[in-house]
Amino acid sequence: THKPQRGHVTRAQLTAERQPAAEVDWDSLGFGLTRTGSTMWMATCDAQDKQWSQGELQPYGPLPMYPSAQSLNYGQAVFEGMKAQRSAQGRVVLFRPDCNAQRMHEGAERLSMVPPPEDLFLDAVKQTVAANIDFVPPQGKGSLYLRPLLIGSGPILGLGPAPSYTLVVYCASVGSYFKGGQLTPIDLLVEERFHRSAPGGMGGTKCAGNYSPVLVTQLAAKKEGYSDVVYLDAKTDTFLEEVSSCNIFVVKGKTIRTPPLQGTILPGVTRRSVIELARSRGYTVEEVPVTVEEAMQSDEVFTTGTAVVVSPVGSLTYQGKRKQYGEPGQPSPVALELYDQLTGLQQERYPDPFGWVLPV
Ligand code: COI
Repeated sequence: THKPQRGHVTRAQLTAERQPAAEVDWDSLGFGLTRTGSTMWMATCDAQDKQWSQGELQPYGPLPMYPSAQSLNYGQAVFEGMKAQRSAQGRVVLFRPDCNAQRMHEGAERLSMVPPPEDLFLDAVKQTVAANIDFVPPQGKGSLYLRPLLIGSGPILGLGPAPSYTLVVYCASVGSYFKGGQLTPIDLLVEERFHRSAPGGMGGTKCAGNYSPVLVTQLAAKKEGYSDVVYLDAKTDTFLEEVSSCNIFVVKGKTIRTPPLQGTILPGVTRRSVIELARSRGYTVEEVPVTVEEAMQSDEVFTTGTAVVVSPVGSLTYQGKRKQYGEPGQPSPVALELYDQLTGLQQERYPDPFGWVLPV
């Protein structure tokens, strides 16, 4: 349990009254820290009494930490990715933040950390958006990307859980994740040497440690002109798992397939939203193992994630063979439809029958 936030920003301050900064070229935003929010939110927790502090806003800046901080040595760190956007209704909204709160809770338990209460998490996110409202781009020009980060910040030498934890939420204005713009198809290389995760491992947890092992393959693939890599399952090297930063889907006619969540794949919020959206639009969506061969023979492939949204895949290269989907440079139709539906909902251009959108 925690007390209400000290220095709480009122609802009136939260609304879209404070407009995006006029001098910014919002069209040139990529996915980075070029416009990092000026304010972050931070709370701490002692592992002994498991009581989280109420949290407070403070200027974005370095965290004070000992070199013996657990997370720096042994990797107790889980994070979330979320977006706040200006909506067609003239307000700023979040998308399914309860899913992120829950996923952080589960990840914290998997890494023996003290989970922050979900209401504290949601309050933290809202506070961060409110305090950085001018960093939310104009409608349709991008979003305020929020990064809630839970770390074992307390010092320890022998292997064990941290004696204290820090939850911090920082943010940045972002545009398209991949170079070339949001709906520019990406070229993916199927990774044949390394695996991202294994059965019984950590692949289903949004822990920091899942993201640096992919760099060696990702950077090598980028050097060869690919946008990113796709991982195969560690057991049989046959089935698609996910891309470094996003989930993957294949399309054949009106059937959409995506690998099932069995602990090796990140349970994406966008993944589950796209599954539900596609079903509501008459597609058959199956969460079943998908072989790389099946992907090579499908009509379309696309990826989903908070950062990447819905990204059409232009080509897949496996064992030297390249499969091109549709016209080069043109987004494929199902990806385009689902992108439009998802972002329409997230920006309140379309009604929200699911109740996914939450005004800040
Ligand atoms: C997100 O999509 O929000 C993520 O956390 C992925 C990250 C690699 C940018």
